[in-house]
Amino acid sequence: MSSQIYRAASRSVRALLSASRNSGLFSEGRAIAAAPVTSFRGRLSTLAPVYQQAEARSTSRGWVSGALVLPAAVYMLQDQPAQAAEMERTFIAIKPDGVQRGLVAEIIDRFERKGYKLVAIKLVIPTKDFAEKHYHDLKERPFFNGLCNFLSSGPVLAMVWEGEGVIKYGRKLIGATDPQKSEPGTIRGDLAVVVGRNIIHGSDGPETAKDEISLWFKPEELVSYTSNAEKWVYGSN
Ligand code: RTP
Ligand code: MG
Repeated sequence: MSSQIYRAASRSVRALLSASRNSGLFSEGRAIAAAPVTSFRGRLSTLAPVYQQAEARSTSRGWVSGALVLPAAVYMLQDQPAQAAEMERTFIAIKPDGVQRGLVAEIIDRFERKGYKLVAIKLVIPTKDFAEKHYHDLKERPFFNGLCNFLSSGPVLAMVWEGEGVIKYGRKLIGATDPQKSEPGTIRGDLAVVVGRNIIHGSDGPETAKDEISLWFKPEELVSYTSNAEKWVYGSN
């Protein structure tokens, strides 16, 4: 295991040094690399420029290779399947109206084509009690009871989608709550007409996403895998 890590690190360092010679990546007095910072679980967690200041030993023509001090994360650069920043997960549900109208494929298609990754999916008819838990933050609103009756009236397609910025951008794909105000091109803008039948739900922030994912899915129902498309969806130049 350790020799594998060593070999991977050596390969990466060689590639980086070679790239630096050819591209001027390391300029005088400073090394700059767009490096995915890996967490201890080995998962990409952020993509940030890494600045390594020169201590001494740089020459007027650039770095002396022996003087390079690179963060450990940079060593892994070449061996990561994708260079995605912050991988988020969001909860998306196609409500009973969207399922009954045969819009499941259309909606999944929009998330897939954008480049997001499906990590959990199931079709369920929630109980009224469950619907109330899901929409608990709206319990003071006059439409709360009707909304929960509706959500529990038929099949809901519950999903978790993963990707960089998926929580916020997922909401953009969905469009404004009231389809009368949703822009054309959004899911609600293109496929729905009134607020009471707006076909889809999406988490509205990181905390809500976390809570909703754990309300609707058991941990073992979330599938972690590397998508073949990731290396083409993510990257920096
Ligand atoms: P969602 O939670 O379903 O993704 O919708 P949202 O964030 O865009 O909007 P939110 O304020 O959370 O409202 C939840 C759902 O309640 C229904 N609603 N009806 N005036 C009304 O009759 C009214 N306002 C909201 C919608 O189905 C909305 O999606
Ligand atoms: Mg909401």
